[in-house]
Amino acid sequence: MRLKIVAGNWKMNNTINEAQTLIIKTLQQSPKIGANQLTIFAVPFPFLYTASNFVKEKSQFAVAAQNCSSYAKGAFTGEVSATMLASLGIPFCLVGHSERRTIFNENAEVLIEKMKQLLKNRIRPIWCCGENLEQRNTNAHFEVIAAQLKAELFTLDKEEFKNVIIAYEPIWAIGTGLTASATQAQEMHQFIRNEIAINYDLEVANQTTILYGGSCNAENAKELFSLADVDGGLIGGASLQPESFVKLISSMHELH
Ligand code: PGA
Repeated sequence: MRLKIVAGNWKMNNTINEAQTLIIKTLQQSPKIGANQLTIFAVPFPFLYTASNFVKEKSQFAVAAQNCSSYAKGAFTGEVSATMLASLGIPFCLVGHSERRTIFNENAEVLIEKMKQLLKNRIRPIWCCGENLEQRNTNAHFEVIAAQLKAELFTLDKEEFKNVIIAYEPIWAIGTGLTASATQAQEMHQFIRNEIAINYDLEVANQTTILYGGSCNAENAKELFSLADVDGGLIGGASLQPESFVKLISSMHELH
């Protein structure tokens, strides 16, 4: 069975005290989920070490970084390498979130390098893709996602690709309250899975975890998580309060 994930992407939010409180409350209030389910806290760099210590020996929880350098090591002031993340025992890292692509101009070349660095260090990339509003309105969304897959993910060989988790995050849905409908989410997730089957094979496609992200919250999560090709969510705003984040984790738990 595919791994089901509820991942909280904190972005640039919280102080260390707020971070600790959020993690402690989430750990205390979460239901015990199945072996094929995972809750991830994608936290800012300064909180990685503390967050990792909280989830140590708790198999249903893990910590992710939100970014890493495309370089291995050396004179790159301000950068954090995948090797550094690995030395902290971090098992996951976001790559290619739309905010990294649009605000920090990260292109396919840089994102491929980041994924290579992560894979070399046995860290699983959570690779994000998504179309903007204009692309959706002009019916170009499938084409856009196919192009992102081809230019970035499908440059990986099959063994590398097996470690990747995908997050489909339509840009028009991120932080806007405009969630993709169940039909829109399912048809895109099915499309992505089909592209994986064509590029690699059906077995790999069926094993790939594909998360939905974009205004996913405690109210709409159950419908989205129940869709055949949606394996959980990458959650921004609703992951910042333990009450709503725990509700999202519970929605997943009740379905699987
Ligand atoms: P949102 O963010 O849930 O606040 O829309 C999702 C994301 O950017 O990962």
